[in-house]
Amino acid sequence: MEIIIRPTQEQCASIGGRIIANLIKRKSDAVLGLATGSTPIPLYSELARMHKDEELSFSEITTFNLDEYIGLSGDHPCSYQFFMNEELFGKIDIRSDFTHIPNGEAEDIESECLEYEDAIRSSGGIDLQVLGIGSDGHIGFNEPGSSLGSRTRIKTLTGKTIEDNARFFDNSNQVPRHCITMGVGTIMDSASLILFAFGEGKADIISKAVEGPVSAMVPASILQLHPSVKVIVDEAAASKLANLDYYNEVYANKPDWQE
Ligand code: GLP
Repeated sequence: MEIIIRPTQEQCASIGGRIIANLIKRKSDAVLGLATGSTPIPLYSELARMHKDEELSFSEITTFNLDEYIGLSGDHPCSYQFFMNEELFGKIDIRSDFTHIPNGEAEDIESECLEYEDAIRSSGGIDLQVLGIGSDGHIGFNEPGSSLGSRTRIKTLTGKTIEDNARFFDNSNQVPRHCITMGVGTIMDSASLILFAFGEGKADIISKAVEGPVSAMVPASILQLHPSVKVIVDEAAASKLANLDYYNEVYANKPDWQE
């Protein structure tokens, strides 16, 4: 794991944007895995800026989102489809038929999940997956206790996640109880991953995910077993890391030949 700590969210997003732009320069038809929540918003703003100011093109890019609420239509303002259209897809030159988000209104949820897995496989697999982290350690919507080998499936949200995500809804009763999410195993199949976390509220869970034992009770901790993961966090989210000084030293002394 490479831990990159920067003072602000914007600086973290700028590093993330550069990594994605470099990938697109190398592979114009790359497959990106995308996340929702408030964390990736600065990254998406940066990508939209790079598209506008630096001619970064997404015209051949395919995307797969991690998850979607069950029961919300794509034009519901709290759906992840709506979020992606607003925060990113509407601001770049991506082809809408190249973007994929689980259909939370599918009649046959089980088939929808299998088809989602097939679509990821047929695309050649995800080159780079963007992740946030829930305050309970979830990635996608893989709540504590999720099988570390799980695939795309229906999950029930924990009370904590419902409470955390209620801020996007009028009240917590409106937060759907169920979702479709890529599994932990699906996420781990990505060739590389970047996990972003910002703010003091994420400091405890970042220290558990990065430095604690690998455990299904902290699903993000499985990333310790992946060969290509960058954890990009602001100083507040990094504040409880035991090896903070070492991570800063590694980043400051990164050889030029490393990206
Ligand atoms: C939701 C999403 C996750 C995201 C998490 C954190 O539960 N399903 O993918 O990482 O929220 O949200 P935030 O970035 O708003 O803290």
